[in-house]
Amino acid sequence: MTQALSQNAVVAVIGAGAMGAGIAQVAAAGGHPVKLLDNRPGAAAQAIEGIRAQFEKMAARGKLSAEAAQAAGARLQAVGQVADLFDAALVVEAIVENLQVKQTLFKELETAVSEGCILASNTSSISITAIGAALGNPQRLAGLHFFNPAPLMALVEVVSGLATAPDVASTLYDTALAWGKTPVHAKSTPGFIVNRVARSYYAEALRVLTEGGADCATLDACCRESGGFRMGPFELMDMIGHDVNFAVTNSVWRAFFNDPRFLPSLIQQDLVDAGFLGKKSGRGFYDYQDGASKPLPTTVPALARPHEIVLYGQSAAAQALAMRLQANNVSFTQAHALGDTLATAGSATLRITDGRTATRCAVDTQTPNTVLIDLALDYAKATRLAVSVAAQCDDAAANSAIGLLQAAGFAVSQLQDIPGLIVMRTVTMLANEASDAVNQGVCDAAAVDTAMRLGVNYPCGPLAWANHVGLAQVSTVLGHLAQTYGEDRYRTSPLIQHHVFAAKDFS
Ligand code: NAI
Repeated sequence: MTQALSQNAVVAVIGAGAMGAGIAQVAAAGGHPVKLLDNRPGAAAQAIEGIRAQFEKMAARGKLSAEAAQAAGARLQAVGQVADLFDAALVVEAIVENLQVKQTLFKELETAVSEGCILASNTSSISITAIGAALGNPQRLAGLHFFNPAPLMALVEVVSGLATAPDVASTLYDTALAWGKTPVHAKSTPGFIVNRVARSYYAEALRVLTEGGADCATLDACCRESGGFRMGPFELMDMIGHDVNFAVTNSVWRAFFNDPRFLPSLIQQDLVDAGFLGKKSGRGFYDYQDGASKPLPTTVPALARPHEIVLYGQSAAAQALAMRLQANNVSFTQAHALGDTLATAGSATLRITDGRTATRCAVDTQTPNTVLIDLALDYAKATRLAVSVAAQCDDAAANSAIGLLQAAGFAVSQLQDIPGLIVMRTVTMLANEASDAVNQGVCDAAAVDTAMRLGVNYPCGPLAWANHVGLAQVSTVLGHLAQTYGEDRYRTSPLIQHHVFAAKDFS
């Protein structure tokens, strides 16, 4: 039985900024009378005008009947003070991101609303437990974390603090469902789910950039065209704004007592210091000023098709290569699996990265002509692949390996010989963090995958992706990264280790 609030329950939203207005729109569309309050005179009324215009637009596009749009708009009311929220069944706070200011507001609210009224905060980074500490009845407080823009983004994190009553979290979950959202439960820990796990998407790319692995445009292109991410990490950081992104990174890092997993990058610090905040300031990693053009990814020019191509085993990558070569009328032979060799082309051996550098791999496997390939979300569909070439590899062999991939229809970006290339290390670190969130009871495995797909549009949940790669392989990659860097940052999540030994995965 659903515990959702009934449609006649009054929903109050405090803060009529970007988020508050969006949340008010969602609640009004969900059928509730909505009271909107902002301490900036006129802000609530102005936001309501904007929401009504949105409803009208939706009606004009046929997404809503004219009557429904009119009715939803009429359910919104601007109010001037906290006392006006006396009849609310739920108050969602979306004011300035400051603990003291939020605590003061919730304390005032406690005296204004009925005992049964649920209090929720849309905070993206402040502990729900800490906000609740100021309240006489912290059981009724939870996080209700929408994503921007709230009317369009499906995900809502329902965040329970230490004192939050399970019933309150259930009511919020069911109410978000009734509003057409996809809620997930999360425990109040730094960054909740999305802002915690997503750190790795930026952190690994920044690491690779710091180490000169490739330029931003190339790394972005690999993440999009090979990893299937909608936006590359650098263009995404430029869009979010480095001030905002760096502040979130810092806050999560500090909140985890400086855990090196979340260590911010000096590059971010520099961009913020320089005022290069991204798109909004005209310059970030990229130049957005008039007349500036976006740099192209570095792509190896077309090379000759190698004469002797052998594909080994029946892995998804080998099968995809076979299919692509066939489609392009390139001849090859197939052989039984041979260790982790994916293919040979002339004298080159191609392997998928396992977190070692190509140079180390060449030594360990006594195969000087080693070329490593990055992870692709789907080797059958990827349009670009990153490769790295061992220092010992001769030019003819490197050209044969790259020629094979080009013959299979990939644009090839050759990165410097950094460990784990870009997509593999990013995905394994996303999965590592997602696994720790599950292991630490923040949420369950399904929730973290849903959250990352819907909150930041990842093409696949990190744990489902890790299952697909194989947890043993994920663990090997992380182990090799840890060996190379000697840093606690790359420690393997205990739950991944457990699953590898138990021959289980996250499904
Ligand atoms: P905003 O700056 O656009 O809007 C905040 C509004 O709250 C302003 O209109 C301001 O006048 C009003 N306000 C400030 N103090 C108030 C008070 N004591 N009483 C009544 N009104 C007050 O901010 P935004 O972006 O809408 O963020 C609001 C909250 O949502 C913050 O906690 C933020 O961390 C969180 N959030 C923001 C997201 C985003 O992408 N902008 C995403 C998810 C959460």
